Amino acid sequence: RKRVFSGIRPTGPIHLGNYLGAIKSWIELQDRYECIYAIVDYHGMTTPYQPAEMRANVRELLIDYLAAGVDPERSILMVQSAVPEHTELAWILGTVTPVSWLERVPTFKEKAEQHPDYVHLGLLSYGVLMAADIVLYKAEVVPVGEDQLPHLELTREIVRRFHHLFGVKIFPEPQALVQEDTARIMSLTDPEKKMSKTLGPRSLIALADPPEEIRDKIMKAVTDTGPTGEGMSPGVANLFHLLKIFGTDEEYRSLRAEYDAGTLRYVNLKRTLADAIIRSLEPFRRRRAQLENDPAYLERVLRDGIRRARALARETMAEVKEACGLVRDE
Ligand code: TYM
Repeated sequence: RKRVFSGIRPTGPIHLGNYLGAIKSWIELQDRYECIYAIVDYHGMTTPYQPAEMRANVRELLIDYLAAGVDPERSILMVQSAVPEHTELAWILGTVTPVSWLERVPTFKEKAEQHPDYVHLGLLSYGVLMAADIVLYKAEVVPVGEDQLPHLELTREIVRRFHHLFGVKIFPEPQALVQEDTARIMSLTDPEKKMSKTLGPRSLIALADPPEEIRDKIMKAVTDTGPTGEGMSPGVANLFHLLKIFGTDEEYRSLRAEYDAGTLRYVNLKRTLADAIIRSLEPFRRRRAQLENDPAYLERVLRDGIRRARALARETMAEVKEACGLVRDE
């Protein structure tokens, strides 16, 4: 069976963007592929953090994965830092990756502009580690949101270059799998930017948000700012987009008809949307509460996932080391 790999950084609660852009398709892919879903804590380290916070975030993210429907019987759930082959392979791939390729990566440029005094080697080589994550398992399919496409392109370039330089063909060239209609969910407070932890908690709906909080955030979401120009404003478009996903067909159609007739009151759109999201996330919240109370189960899932991931990783590393003339560990 073909393999799937994807991951999320444990930098805080996951939000609707992470869910709709990535996790939703992770769940569907489990039937047809051998899936490895990672908590990528080494990537999380590239922005400033507290160790205690990281530990808590890893646990919360594991709960999120399970509550959302990742099935540890069928898929491997793992933490990146527990499988040392990730960084081992990243080193090797780093020796075939020109620095100029890394300086071109949009997320690197963005972060370097945001924090010019904090441009470290780990940030520059972020994409090399991500390439290692994927090819370590010879994954062919990588379900992600649109913002990750440049990283996938870089991964393919690194794979081609590695094969060319060592005269082997070890890795498949992985393809991104992007959900057409949910590849980019927008922020509630700055609807021209994507929903993201960096824009602050009010800009996003976390999957684990209590109902009152979801309602409050939706009711305060930006609709029109300044004079309305041609067509629907980005804020209203984002709310309709979410209603299409979470609401019933009838709710969407009737509110959309009111918008087209010019009679829509945004407060009605927001109330309906808040109810729809709260309703849809109810099973997630229930499963989450159960998992919170079962630390022994969480530990078992993680240990089992790490063990299975490591076995696959070691197979690939044996081939890679052979191709590169390096020494194996046993
Ligand atoms: P991260 O942690 O930023 O985001 C996790 C996933 O959520 C998607 N996403 C969104 N999709 C739609 N709309 C949004 N507003 C939105 N915000 C986030 C992201 O595209 C991503 O799929 N570099 C990766 C983590 C990573 C990884 C990997 C992914 C490390 N190694 C290997 C795949 C394969 C990242 O920072 O994702």
